[in-house]
Amino acid sequence: MARTIALANQKGGVGKTTTAINLAASLASMGRKVLLIDVDAQANATSGLGVAKEDVHQSIYDVIINGVDPLSLLLDTELEHLKLIPGSPAMAGAEVELVQMEGREFLLREGLKPLQSQFEFILIDCPPALGQLTLNALVACDTVLIPIQTEYYALEGLGHLLNTIGLVRQALNPTLEIEGLLFTMYDSRTNLARQVVDEVRTHFQSLAFDTIIPRNVRLSECPSFGKPALLYDSASTGSQAYMNLAREFRQRQYVHAA
Ligand SMILES: Nc1ncnc2c1ncn2[C@@H]1O[C@H](COP(=O)(O)OP(=O)(O)O)[C@@H](O)[C@H]1O
Ligand SMILES: [Mg+2]
Repeated sequence: MARTIALANQKGGVGKTTTAINLAASLASMGRKVLLIDVDAQANATSGLGVAKEDVHQSIYDVIINGVDPLSLLLDTELEHLKLIPGSPAMAGAEVELVQMEGREFLLREGLKPLQSQFEFILIDCPPALGQLTLNALVACDTVLIPIQTEYYALEGLGHLLNTIGLVRQALNPTLEIEGLLFTMYDSRTNLARQVVDEVRTHFQSLAFDTIIPRNVRLSECPSFGKPALLYDSASTGSQAYMNLAREFRQRQYVHAA
């Protein structure tokens, strides 16, 4: 069985997609079999892995709404062990269509079943909203990884997200756990970034990953080349940080499993 991790935060621009791509790529480079599913209508994870939006004929939309077999949608990436199920602009319509569908919260979970035996890790890149698609991801996943941008208002909305996770656990997915809080775009020169980290660590103790993702221009450049950081500039601090995150992530798994 795969371990399924949703990358969620209803704020946009906090590093969900960057983390999805680079954690997935780092795990795949360690030989793990990884699938990234792009559930966002902006399809940034799809283009960020080098798949042009024009080349996407069917997407995760068709799995959720039309019951298409996800095994028929697996796309190769430049990394042997990393596969992609693309997103598409059609996902924007899914938010509305889902409202009227029966068993709507469970459609992604059901859709992913044929993939469970094929992968070790399935990462779901969520849209920047707590709508039907993120809800579907929270029901379909084992754990949630929450990127937190170390900037002003970083914690705004975090309470609401944690509350939603609690409600999903009670009503729809009793074994849902939080994988961890991840600090992103950290600028060590600013007091503010340090304050955000201190505040979160005080409130949430061990929930935060020790690994912190620095602000790094390489990370912001690589999506336009359709590559994860480790194929664009493996020596960059951003690429190294995501490799460290992958190691920490796997160590935590080990502790979980023990
Ligand atoms: N650590 C980082 N350093 C520099 N730029 C980053 C970093 N993480 C993300 N970015 C850039 O910030 C923007 C938002 O990141 P993204 O991962 O798309 O956020 P989200 O998916 O949460 O909306 C993107 O342009 C991305 O390239
Ligand atoms: Mg995104």
